[in-house]
Amino acid sequence: MEIKRRNFLKTSVIGAGALLIKTTGYAKVEELNESVNNIEQTNKTKKQLYNMCGYAAPAIPTVRIGFIGIGSRGSAAVERILHINNTEVAALCDVYEEKINDCREMLMKKKQKKAKEYYGSKDTWKKLCEQKDIDLVYIATPWALHTPMAVYAMECGKHVAVEVPAACTLEECWQLVETSERTKKHCCQLENCCYDFFEIMTTNMAHKGVLGELMHGEGAYIHEILNNIFDRPTGWRWQENRKNGNLYPTHGLGPICWAMNINRGDQMDYLTSMATDDFMMQEKARQLAASNPAFEEAAKIKFRGNLNTSLVRTHKGKTILIQHDISSPRPYSRLHLLSGTKGFVQKYPEPGKIALGHGFVDEATMKQLEEKFTPELVKHISEAAKKVGGHGGMDFIMDWRLMDCLRNGLPLDMDVYDAANWSCITPLSIWSIANRSNSIDVPDFTCGAWKTNTPVDLTLRNGGNTEFIG
Ligand SMILES: NC(=O)c1ccc[n+]([C@@H]2O[C@H](COP(=O)([O-])OP(=O)(O)OC[C@H]3O[C@@H](n4cnc5c(N)ncnc54)[C@H](O)[C@@H]3O)[C@@H](O)[C@H]2O)c1
Repeated sequence: MEIKRRNFLKTSVIGAGALLIKTTGYAKVEELNESVNNIEQTNKTKKQLYNMCGYAAPAIPTVRIGFIGIGSRGSAAVERILHINNTEVAALCDVYEEKINDCREMLMKKKQKKAKEYYGSKDTWKKLCEQKDIDLVYIATPWALHTPMAVYAMECGKHVAVEVPAACTLEECWQLVETSERTKKHCCQLENCCYDFFEIMTTNMAHKGVLGELMHGEGAYIHEILNNIFDRPTGWRWQENRKNGNLYPTHGLGPICWAMNINRGDQMDYLTSMATDDFMMQEKARQLAASNPAFEEAAKIKFRGNLNTSLVRTHKGKTILIQHDISSPRPYSRLHLLSGTKGFVQKYPEPGKIALGHGFVDEATMKQLEEKFTPELVKHISEAAKKVGGHGGMDFIMDWRLMDCLRNGLPLDMDVYDAANWSCITPLSIWSIANRSNSIDVPDFTCGAWKTNTPVDLTLRNGGNTEFIG
């Protein structure tokens, strides 16, 4: 297998040419090759410094938070946090001062202490990380900045909550793991979809054995946002979307990994990835270029395929399908499908459905299952979450749970191994696509600890005392 992979690296990746150079997230094709070879070495020799799965940091009764990246996602996070008692918005940072204005006003209206502000340069976030009275750095910037910011924040002694995907390259994934283990600082990837109502309930059902032994899971990011991507042919979203791979895997994958106990009883073994050609994006660019010269360059681009399908096999013989498609005219879907020896669940098209035999259960049984298997933490905070909102409430459940765990010194639901594992799908899929869908090993970021790590605990044991501010 290794010899085959190396041969491919020497031939077909280089043969893939300039497009790959521009679109891998690595500066050059040679870097991608080198990265995969180095990572193979790292995978074999790496030793865990400290197991951050199940790690409980000292309790922080009032969590002081510094936010970096006050765009649409960052400002919504600030607003949500203001609904959680015993938290403090200690600092706000963006390159542009005007991005901070709304949050400054929000704090004033809520009669909160004025946050320290950092703006005016691309590097000013480092000062926020260095600020002494901060416990947690909350990062909602473009993807390429996630790992550098997270690593620096942990080096400065801060816990980190970072938007998805936490890392763009395999090196970044290992960097997060190594830094979190060495500094004993949490690095939590903000995968809100794990907390969506049906997803978290079916995770709980899987853990309780209702679905039997899970054999297969499916997750996806299928969201027609072609017009947003083509808003302007510059900017970070545009650049990121030039890569040819499974570009946004964590929303669909996170809940499946929770249910299947990935990093906590099972581990991904290897991945293969395949993409369609592009049947829409260049055409769109050409149409726009006809009336807007800003799109002339874009019209010449050979875009990546519209639909990516990646498949993972786990060490315990299970499979996970992960799809990505942001251009096809089809309804939104994260698939969320779990298939076990005793049951089956599927969320999309909504509403979610459950089968414990040949047919889906009826409405009354569904209600009973919801009552029985909606985890305690969701029942506790769901009413408040629906009021505050954020993708129907799941964003608030995630933030509240994160604060509750930090305040009570509890392990986080999502640790650095999840951040690395769920993010690494993108660089691995880029490699696989460039190599005729050849398979590639998924690094074990836990260095074998997955065999004894325990499943995520969705109870409120030793916590649940963090108050909602209406
Ligand atoms: N979990 C979810 O449901 C979800 C939804 C949307 C976006 N996201 C993620 O959130 C992140 C942000 O997305 P967004 O839609 O808010 O993007 P955005 O472009 O609206 O916001 C990004 C912000 O980061 C700022 N920024 C850029 N470089 C910076 C730097 N060097 N220092 C400080 N600030 C800097 C920008 O000025 C901007 O205000 C992305 O990683 C995205 O993938 C997650």
